Amino acid sequence: MPRLQVRTKTRQHEYKIAIGRGILSGAGKAARERFGSPSQRIAVISNRKVFSLYGPVLLRSLQSSGFATPHWLMRDGERYKSIQTAEEALNFLSKNGIERGDALIAMGGGVVGDLAGFVAATYLRGIPFIQVPTTLLAQIDSSVGGKTGVNLPTGKNLVGCFHQPDAVIVDIETLTTLPPRELVAGWCETIKQGAVGSMELFNQTTALLGKIDSRNVLISSKMEKLVAAHCAFKASIVAADERENVARRDRRSRRILNFGHTIGHALEAVTSYRRFRHGEAVGHGILVAGELSKNMGLLDESELELLRHGVSLCGPLPSAKDLDETAILNAIARDKKRARGYIQWVLLEGIGQPTIVDGKEIGQNLLKQSVRNSLR
Ligand SMILES: NC(=O)c1ccc[n+]([C@@H]2O[C@H](COP(=O)([O-])OP(=O)(O)OC[C@H]3O[C@@H](n4cnc5c(N)ncnc54)[C@H](O)[C@@H]3O)[C@@H](O)[C@H]2O)c1
Ligand SMILES: [Zn+2]
Repeated sequence: MPRLQVRTKTRQHEYKIAIGRGILSGAGKAARERFGSPSQRIAVISNRKVFSLYGPVLLRSLQSSGFATPHWLMRDGERYKSIQTAEEALNFLSKNGIERGDALIAMGGGVVGDLAGFVAATYLRGIPFIQVPTTLLAQIDSSVGGKTGVNLPTGKNLVGCFHQPDAVIVDIETLTTLPPRELVAGWCETIKQGAVGSMELFNQTTALLGKIDSRNVLISSKMEKLVAAHCAFKASIVAADERENVARRDRRSRRILNFGHTIGHALEAVTSYRRFRHGEAVGHGILVAGELSKNMGLLDESELELLRHGVSLCGPLPSAKDLDETAILNAIARDKKRARGYIQWVLLEGIGQPTIVDGKEIGQNLLKQSVRNSLR
């Protein structure tokens, strides 16, 4: 089973990411190892869907390692990643007398992980927590890196804090129950990470993607290795730029993980978050950012072709053809990642060679044309 050690500088905090098949049943042992004997209780936050599938295994494992396991299930969906839900979760911890020596486990996709992480960061000014990600996106991206938070009615992820987990337990068997669209969305994020990571990570990703017609691929040792490679890449970026320093523009700054996201967020916004899963919108966003990179003379046609092929392997994306370019451009202008009034675009000079470009260096016509040419 691959194990990764993540070191972050600011808090001298180290944690392990364990990746494997069926390892959920070892969660109790892992928690005991991490927290030692004084820890008595582990509160579990999940949602009904995930908990009905994996709750019994997790609770049994924790209980057999001597933990009491109060649990609380939030409602399913992005719209419940809110301050109101966080307040309910905080009340649950408080009513159950959770103390600083206790801990919290978040089991679910990125929504549960972000919300429960935020709750762990703020309850009693921070208690230990373990991420048990159960979607592909959460396994390769959101569970690693310590960004936690909730949405406001005015925008996504506007409230939150950095709070690194104490361990991440990635059981790839949980991927077998994911709805197909959630898988497509997660795969698009793997293409994003490969594109900004390295040609090696990109090729490793597309090689496995070429075989995803067989569901057995999801529980293969190659899948285990791929998830581990993505976690290692994300962890390496996070370790060097934990808090996403806004002044950094180099190719290893945390911001490069936003490749495909400028257009992705705009597509989500112009369709009122109803048409695309986030990762699906990012799939389109990758194509536009790739096209723009080529049109600006940064990226070769042959590498753009690799990118297009990679996205096509992820599976079908909901069509974006009918969307109005001007509305998309207006939505970009409102993007919170604006810096000094301009958007910072993550573009590519090659696979594995991201570059951050100021929005003012990009002509509106070129941008419009790139959007028009790539949305399908
Ligand atoms: N913190 C970060 O660094 C970071 C990074 C990227 C994304 N995010 C956040 O992650 C969220 C998206 O996460 P997501 O894509 O995992 O969506 P999600 O958490 O909404 O999960 C998608 C759906 O899959 C269901 N599900 C989860 N695991 C399952 C399983 N094993 N079997 C069957 N169904 C399962 C969920 O109940 C849900 O209905 C967004 O809120 C985004 O902002 C955070
Ligand atoms: Zn994303």
